[in-house]
Amino acid sequence: MSVPAARSTATPSVGVMTQRRYLMCRPTYFAVDYRINPWMDPTAPYDTELAIAQWTRLRQVYRDLGHTVDEIEPVPGLPDMVFAANGATVLDGDVLAVQFRDPERADEAPAYRSWFERAGFRVHEAKHTNEGEGDLLLAGDVMLAGYGFRTVHAAHTQVQEVFGRPTVSLQLVDPAYYHLDTALCVLDAETVAYLPEAFSPGSRAVLRRLFPNAVLATPADAAVLGLNAVSDGEHVVLPVQATDLTAALEARGYTTVGVDMSELRKAGGGPKCCTLEVRP
Ligand code: ARG
Repeated sequence: MSVPAARSTATPSVGVMTQRRYLMCRPTYFAVDYRINPWMDPTAPYDTELAIAQWTRLRQVYRDLGHTVDEIEPVPGLPDMVFAANGATVLDGDVLAVQFRDPERADEAPAYRSWFERAGFRVHEAKHTNEGEGDLLLAGDVMLAGYGFRTVHAAHTQVQEVFGRPTVSLQLVDPAYYHLDTALCVLDAETVAYLPEAFSPGSRAVLRRLFPNAVLATPADAAVLGLNAVSDGEHVVLPVQATDLTAALEARGYTTVGVDMSELRKAGGGPKCCTLEVRP
């Protein structure tokens, strides 16, 4: 009896690293002096020097893994500009510019847009509010698109037109996980990790259907922004405090690299928020 040569879905391909190019922004002007998500407390102390040290370590981790890191000049008066994931979405040399929900972050959009224009990318103007890779995550050939808090549902049609990838809308329901990248991490072309409770019932069903082998995170993982992680297909850089997720990923064959982003978490961000993937 012959066995079909189809690839087994029970054993996802783990351990195939691809070299990445990232854009980052030094938190020179980092502060928590307004509140646009539940993590931010403008009355609590913060330490800009510590944020810079944690960010510098993250940049070193990427370089040690063999990735390329480009930097955009930070702008005074834009304390959240360190969260480069919100600066754009980049695929095949096309850049979809962002449009922020909150006026406090509005001036970041032209700064990121002109960086990409100067670097020779094709930049598309945003027609609707979209906060870049915070809500738009490429998983293989599918663009996962969050909405509910920041990026609006209407933006997803523009995303599909610009990138020509099937775009799957996922509704976020917990204000603590206000960007898709706080509730879901793409591990490789076939696998994601996510917190089911952060999604509407219909979106949970979609995720189960698309990713039957997904890693399900615990509320404790998500509460330290553990899902705000960056994978190159083999190594997963994630908050060191996310101990359940670290163990689950190691058990699946990924190599984890823990980083402490506690200071940036005071603004509601982790490693992925600080990292924009540039796909030329
Ligand atoms: N304080 C920022 C905001 O609320 C944090 C952004 C985090 N970025 C992300 N990709 N989740 O907009």
